[in-house]
Amino acid sequence: VTTVGALLGALRARLAHLAEGPREAELLVGAALGVGRARLIAYPESAVTERDAQRALALAEERARGRPVAQLLGRREFWSLELEVTEAVLVPRPETELLVELGLAAIAAHADPRVADLGAGSGAIGLAIAHERSDARVELIEQSPAALAVACGNARRLGVANVVAKLGDWCAPLVGRYELILANPPYLAADDAALPGLAHEPRAALVAGATGIEALARIAASAPAYLASGGLLALEHGADQGEAVRALLARASLGGIATARDLAGHERVTHGRRTG
Ligand SMILES: C[S@@+](CC[C@H](N)C(=O)[O-])C[C@H]1O[C@@H](n2cnc3c(N)ncnc32)[C@H](O)[C@@H]1O
Repeated sequence: VTTVGALLGALRARLAHLAEGPREAELLVGAALGVGRARLIAYPESAVTERDAQRALALAEERARGRPVAQLLGRREFWSLELEVTEAVLVPRPETELLVELGLAAIAAHADPRVADLGAGSGAIGLAIAHERSDARVELIEQSPAALAVACGNARRLGVANVVAKLGDWCAPLVGRYELILANPPYLAADDAALPGLAHEPRAALVAGATGIEALARIAASAPAYLASGGLLALEHGADQGEAVRALLARASLGGIATARDLAGHERVTHGRRTG
């Protein structure tokens, strides 16, 4: 038998090499013991059974081996929504909230907008839009059946009813015209140096092809045909891909092309409107 304080100390030490180590130690001890952070901090002298301590230490080992905390906890907060996260989906990233923000602004003045989220993964983007705009009809498009099942589970759990899920390749499942098409597609090159650190997330969610621009190029070529007049296509991309994506949208004859930067100051989302 040990105490909460000693167990926290052990996990903090094990995760000391990680930027968010101290906070992650609290999350993992909390998950293993089934109690919230405030209680852990308030009662460091509480006894912990051997079984709970072993469970917390095992979670820390997995974290140290690179598994994302969101996968260990089975959930991640995005746009204030708690999403289930498994190894079938990308862990939603905070910078993707920029895509949601731009999307919501684009449809602010439009009643009953039709929206498509291409490559929905956990459903983060499409569910955030659908949750904010109950009049929107949002389609979650995903090629991976396992990922789409996670997105559907999230929609159900969150009680978001104005979404439909469609299995398929980028724009293939789209029908008719949309006021807003959003995508955070895979945009890493097959030899990207970051990949070894992302080994626990699906490769199909990360790698686009030899150069990294392949999925963005396919979406930029196919999505404009499904935009309503004045409709917006917004694509998340890597910090060094802004210029390439602006060129792709220009080639697709979209207007008002611009790139927004994330909180770190990196070019992150490029968008354009169908003018005709
Ligand atoms: C970077 S993840 C984004 C997940 C989620 N939208 C988010 O932002 O957290 C890209 C997603 O695109 C999906 N995907 C990859 N190729 C696809 C294709 N050809 N058609 C549809 N979805 C695809 C992957 O399975 C993955 O879920």
